[in-house]
Amino acid sequence: MGAGPRAKGGTAHCKAPNWGKMMKQLQGRVAVVTGGGSGIGSGICQALAAEDVQVVVSDLAPASAEAVAAAIRADGGRSIAIAADVSQRRDVEALASRTIDELGRVDIVCNNAGVLVGGPMLETTEDDWQWLMSVNLLGVVHGSQVFGRILADRGSGHIVNTASIGGFLSYPNLATYCTSKFAVIGFSEALQLELDPKGVGVSILCPGKVHTNLDNADAIRPERFARAGGTSKELGDLSEGMPPIEVGRHVVRGIQENSPYVFTHPEFRELFKTRFDRVLQSFDSTPGG
Ligand SMILES: NC(=O)c1ccc[n+]([C@@H]2O[C@H](COP(=O)([O-])OP(=O)(O)OC[C@H]3O[C@@H](n4cnc5c(N)ncnc54)[C@H](O)[C@@H]3O)[C@@H](O)[C@H]2O)c1
Repeated sequence: MGAGPRAKGGTAHCKAPNWGKMMKQLQGRVAVVTGGGSGIGSGICQALAAEDVQVVVSDLAPASAEAVAAAIRADGGRSIAIAADVSQRRDVEALASRTIDELGRVDIVCNNAGVLVGGPMLETTEDDWQWLMSVNLLGVVHGSQVFGRILADRGSGHIVNTASIGGFLSYPNLATYCTSKFAVIGFSEALQLELDPKGVGVSILCPGKVHTNLDNADAIRPERFARAGGTSKELGDLSEGMPPIEVGRHVVRGIQENSPYVFTHPEFRELFKTRFDRVLQSFDSTPGG
């Protein structure tokens, strides 16, 4: 691009923006949550429902989505399930149309569906990369574009894109996953700058370890990406992780405060400092730096 920190259409993410509208009042809003049938997505659905938000639970797995929606209804909340594969733009377009048809509006969109393939980078296959990026990155792009247009046209709303601590810190044997999450952060930071002037907030969710089914992602790997070099088992045991409902409550706070980043594990702060100090040290050793 060759434009340094300034590019056509705005300034890069190098100053603290004066973030616009906050959505303090959540009661009566309509939210769509992808990957809502399990783990963090189901925690977000439950936490939003507790704020009297109507929740569209969306997932690749229709039965899981319906189970989460039914549990919300059983608790007195309002929720419907709509199946969608976020890697397919037409599915996300159909999800948006059905949401508007059935609930009349949409205010909050959580692009949360994700999968994991781990293992030594040199052994990863083209199918590993294609599957992971089609869900973790393109799924977020599809949701942000399709729903972002609706929210921007109206001039209000909030998008939450699920990244990870692994979107700021790289780990060995998680190159595919970390690459997808670094990409979600870069994409979402650009989106913040583009949508904030249009009245739409964008938060980037960056959890540490959460007790979910992400380590079983191998089980939902589509046939078209069957040539596996890596495995979701590389992630290790998630049972000690944070309960998903706690992550959901952090997301509620992030939406209400229009937080650019939603962190759930404050213990990572020091590692972030080390990471950014290391980057800055390379500036120090640059002649004239
Ligand atoms: N669990 C963790 O420790 C952790 C940490 C940081 C970030 N995350 C991120 O949180 C998000 C949710 O993952 P989770 O940990 O709750 O895992 P999970 O496996 O429990 O839930 C993921 C859900 O996404 C759905 N899904 C997968 N592919 C899909 C597709 N193509 N279209 C629609 N839905 C699809 C799955 O069916 C599943 O219900 C992911 O983006 C993940 O990368 C998880």
